[in-house]
Amino acid sequence: MLSSKNLMRTALRAQRTYATSVAKFTGQKNANGHYTVNIIEGDGIGIEISKAVKDIYKAAKVPIDWDPVDVTPSLVDGRTTLPAETVKRINKNKIALKGPLATPVGKGHQSLNLTLRKTFNLFANVRPCKSIVGYETPYSNVDTVLIRENTEGEYAGIEHTVVPGVVQSIKLITRDASQRVARYAFEYARSIGKKKVLVVHKATLMKYGDGLFLESVSQVGQEFPDIEVVTEIIDNTCLRMVQDPAPYKDVVMVMPNLYGDIMSDLSSGLIGGLGLTPSGNMGDDVSIFEAVHGSAPDIAGKGLANPTALLLSSVMMLRHMSLNSYADKIEKAVLDTIASGPENRTGDLKGTATTQSFTDAVISRL
Ligand code: NAI
Repeated sequence: MLSSKNLMRTALRAQRTYATSVAKFTGQKNANGHYTVNIIEGDGIGIEISKAVKDIYKAAKVPIDWDPVDVTPSLVDGRTTLPAETVKRINKNKIALKGPLATPVGKGHQSLNLTLRKTFNLFANVRPCKSIVGYETPYSNVDTVLIRENTEGEYAGIEHTVVPGVVQSIKLITRDASQRVARYAFEYARSIGKKKVLVVHKATLMKYGDGLFLESVSQVGQEFPDIEVVTEIIDNTCLRMVQDPAPYKDVVMVMPNLYGDIMSDLSSGLIGGLGLTPSGNMGDDVSIFEAVHGSAPDIAGKGLANPTALLLSSVMMLRHMSLNSYADKIEKAVLDTIASGPENRTGDLKGTATTQSFTDAVISRL
C-alpha cells in the first residue's frame, strides 16, 4: 500500500513525464460545457487505437466531445493542402488527437504529417519516454524528454533533380525556427525543474546548418541563466544513450527535425518499442497530440495494435487542457494494466492481449 505522500510523489512524477507545459490552451467550452477535440483517426492501426481511446474516454466520463475531421489532401498550386473545413474546425477548437497517417514512398502528395505541422505552425514536438514499470527491458531507468524542431531541417521538402541521376535534397535551418524551438525547450526545462538543455547536433560536418542551430540555442540560452546549455554530437548521443540512458534524465534534449525523429525511435526501443511512446506537436495557438509510431501496415486490421502510445498522447493532451484528474486516472489505469501481466499486454510487449481485451482491462481499472 502506498502512503499518501508516496502517492502524491508518484502523481507528480507522472505529471512531469507526460506534461506539455509552457504552450497555453485557449480552447473554449461548447454548449454542453465540454471541450470539443478534433480527432483524426488515421490509417492502418489508427482506426483500432482511436476506438480504444474513445471507448476508454467514454468509460472515464472525460468531459470532451470528439469531432472527427477529414484530412484527405488536395493539390492546390502544386502544394499538398488540407480541406478548408478541417483547418477551420481545428483552428476553432485549438486541439486535436491524431492517429498515424501513411505517407506514399518516393512519390505522390507531401507527407500529411508535415502538412499538418506546417498548416498549424506546430513548431515543437515534445516526446517523453519513460521506462514502464512491470515491463522488463535491459534498462529500467529511462526517463528522457526530447524536443524536436518540427517544421524544417531535412523535412522541409525542398528537393530537385539537377540532372538525371543527381538529386539535391536541401536541409533548411533558419534562425527564427531554431530560436523558437530553443525557447520552448528552455521554458519546458524550467517548468519541469530540469537544469540543463542538451543540444544534439552534427555541426562538425554541417557547419552552416547545424552550426546555426547550435548558435541559436546558445543565444536563447542567455535569456535563461538558471539553465546550462550542453552540447553533444548526434552519433555520440546514440552510442551513450544505448550504453547508459541514466544521465539523460537530467536534461531536456533539443535537436533538428531528422535527428529528433530518429532519436525518439531509439528511445522508444529502450523502453519496449513504438507502441509505448506519446508526443505532442505544440504551436502557439493549436496543438496536435499523436503517437510516435506509424500506421503499422503489418498488423493493421488484426486487432493486435497496442493503443498505449495514443492513450499516453491523449494524457498529454488532457494535461495541456488542465483536465488533470482525468489524465491521472487514465494514465494510472493504462500503466497498471501493462504491469498486471502478459495476459493484459499486446503482442509487441510479449503479451497475448488483443487491442480490445487490453482496452477492456484498462476500463476495468478506471
Ligand atoms: P510503424 O511505426 O508503422 O511500424 C514499425 C513497427 O512497429 C512495425 O513492426 C509495427 O507493427 C510496430 N508498431 C508500431 N506501432 C505499434 C503499435 N501501436 N502496436 C504494436 N506494434 C506497433 O513504421 P513504418 O512501418 O515505417 O511506417 C508505416 C507507415 O506509417 C508509413 O506510411 C509511414 O510513413 C507512416 N508513419 C506515420 C507516422 C505518423 O503519422 N506520425 C509516423 C511514422 C510513420
